[in-house]
Amino acid sequence: MRTDPDPAPILTERLVLRRSRPEDAETISAYRSDPRVRRYQGWERTDPEAVRAEIEAMASRAAGDPGWVQFTVEDRASGRLVGDVGICGVAEEPGVVKVGYTIAPAFQGRGLGTEALRALVDYAFGTLGADRVRMYADADNLASIRVAEKAGLRFVERFREPDGAGGTWEGVRYERHRPDLGRPPSGLKEPRGRADGPAWNAARGTNDDRA
Ligand SMILES: CC(C)(COP(=O)(O)OP(=O)(O)OC[C@H]1O[C@@H](n2cnc3c(N)ncnc32)[C@H](O)[C@@H]1OP(=O)(O)O)[C@@H](O)C(=O)NCCC(=O)NCCS
Repeated sequence: MRTDPDPAPILTERLVLRRSRPEDAETISAYRSDPRVRRYQGWERTDPEAVRAEIEAMASRAAGDPGWVQFTVEDRASGRLVGDVGICGVAEEPGVVKVGYTIAPAFQGRGLGTEALRALVDYAFGTLGADRVRMYADADNLASIRVAEKAGLRFVERFREPDGAGGTWEGVRYERHRPDLGRPPSGLKEPRGRADGPAWNAARGTNDDRA
């Protein structure tokens, strides 16, 4: 798999996905702080300073490396910031990338999440040469699951993990294989994330991971 230190903007019919910049922090903070957006996420901080610090920390990373790289999603016609997506290599599984996505409530329900994720999946296979794209979500996050399905990801497993607050978190893993690789033969046991929490982190967007 390749890495992409300086990703070019990704254009779709209605959107442009371009690397997040510190000045995006206020707007991203505003929708991440919305309870409807936070509901299935685990961001510890969503204030502008924390979001800005996260964007600055990601600036030195190449897309495809372990660690999240975030793209801001803009409406091409108006230039308005409508959401963000992220991509993250998996150190223990070369060829695998995790993806995450958020669309601000004001812009949801218009197919933008699907359009952005499809573009990110194409980028992962085409530009990075990834073998597999993976998404973790809260098992109740039906909108997120639907978007993953519409971008061609398929259910792999449902699992429970400690939620870090004394309870249990129930998550799902969806994946899509690079088209020319096909799917693994049925019955082949697929590796799962370590049991100590990266899946939870990935889906819940905690400090060392995001979704
Ligand atoms: C998930 C999210 C990105 C979807 O964005 P969006 O732009 O509204 O997505 P789309 O319009 O492309 O598609 C949404 C699909 O989910 C469906 N959907 C929405 N809410 C749903 C619900 N509560 N139950 C079932 N399906 C639902 C829609 O009907 C649509 O499917 P359809 O086209 O087959 O009708 C957005 O809801 C979001 O940002 N949520 C909060 C952050 C989050 O949880 N991100 C995922 C992390 S894994």
